[in-house]
Parts: sequence; C-alpha cells; structure tokens
Amino acid sequence: MRLQLLSWPEVESYLQRSRGVIVPIGSTEQHGPTGLLGTDALCAEGIALRVGEEAGALVAPTIGVGMAEHHMAFPGTVTLRPSTLVLVIRDVVQSLAWHGFERFLFINGHGGNLPTIKAAFYEIHAEARATRGAAAPDLRLKVMNWWDGQEVRNLGRELYGSRDGAHATASEIAVTRALFPDHIKTAPLDPPVAPSAAFHDSRHFRARHPDGRMGSDPSLATPEHGHRLIAAAVPALAAAYRSLLQEP
Ligand code: NI
Repeated sequence: MRLQLLSWPEVESYLQRSRGVIVPIGSTEQHGPTGLLGTDALCAEGIALRVGEEAGALVAPTIGVGMAEHHMAFPGTVTLRPSTLVLVIRDVVQSLAWHGFERFLFINGHGGNLPTIKAAFYEIHAEARATRGAAAPDLRLKVMNWWDGQEVRNLGRELYGSRDGAHATASEIAVTRALFPDHIKTAPLDPPVAPSAAFHDSRHFRARHPDGRMGSDPSLATPEHGHRLIAAAVPALAAAYRSLLQEP
C-alpha cells in the first residue's frame, strides 16, 4: 500500500491494526554511462512497494535525494549534505510518529546513505529522550539495504561474480531495467570492468572513476535478471519487517 494513494481515513483505519511503516530511501546520482540517475531511489521504491504487498505494509513516500556528495563531479547528481539528510529523516519519522506509527523499516538503495541514516536514528532517539523522557514513544527504527538478504547476494554472485562491482552495479542496473524497460540505455563501456579504488571527494572520484562506475560491468544487466533479483530480495525484507512488528 502506497501511502500517497490512500486517503486519510484509510490511514486512520490502517493504524487501528498496525503501527508499522516502510520508508524507501535512495539517491539521485550518476550511475555510469548507462545507469539511470534515479537508480538508487527507483530500486528502493520498486522493491519496497513489493515488500509492502507481501507484508501488508504501508509504504511511505520515497526519500529520493540522499547523500551523494562524492558523485557531484557528474552532471545530474543532486545531493543533500549529511546534516540536511538527518533533518529530512527526522521530520519524516516524527511526522509519521505523531500519527501513531512506531515501527519503521527503511529500505535503502544507496550505501553512501547508511552512516547518515544511522546518525539520524540516534538524533531522533536523543531528541525524544531529552524532550519527552519516559513519555517518549517507543520508536523502533531499522534500516536494511535492498540487497542485504543472503538470497539476493547469492544471485548477484551467480549472475555476475566480481563483475557486479561496487557502484553502478550490474545488479542495481538490472533492477532498473526490470522496473523501467523503456529506459534501457547503451553506451560503450571502456574498460568493460571499471576500476575499483578508494577516493576522497567528488573530484578525486571522477579522476579515479572517469565514467562513474566502480568495479562493475553493467552491460551484463538484463530485465530478466532484474525480475529475479527483485523476487530474491523481497522475502528477506518482508521477514525483517514482520520481525520488527513482532519485537517485544
Ligand atoms: Ni546505486
């Protein structure tokens, strides 16, 4: 259930039976010469909606711009600074918590968001403790990357081995090709497998990874792979959501 397609009375009646909500979070950043700028947000949202169907969960609006500072040397990338993203996450959680939501599963599509998401969770807990003390709502905030389940990791390894890479991965490009088959792009990839190297800031990133990819060969990605990766990702995320609801 997509929150944006419900009416307020429908959310009110959902809250009679559940206090759980899923929040997709991604990024709008370069994904190599053939990857969509929205890859991380589109993967998180597409998979979160399927998890919502599987688990009967409400899915909040996607936080579609994340912490992508290191990708800023490529046109089209949009970033929030970490401190802004903390505030965005805090305001989304506090809005939903005000209505009665207590158990939050963030389904994340961008590894670079993780430290900031975790910082945001502690900011929320610290603020609740400081302002509400023992009366603070018992919020449970959890984040999982869509690729965290063992099944989806195994499938990525089986399909691509080490050519899956670390950024603009074959797996994530395959998921967008399944979700948006009308937006498949082709371009020469040279070298076929991109270099893998650490970087400091956005200029250094572009110097070391001139076409934006890190360690990946997204030419291997097909829509059919994407459908399989989505099907492999959903059960672990739905199980994590159910255990979050059942947690004492
Ligand atoms: Ni990505």
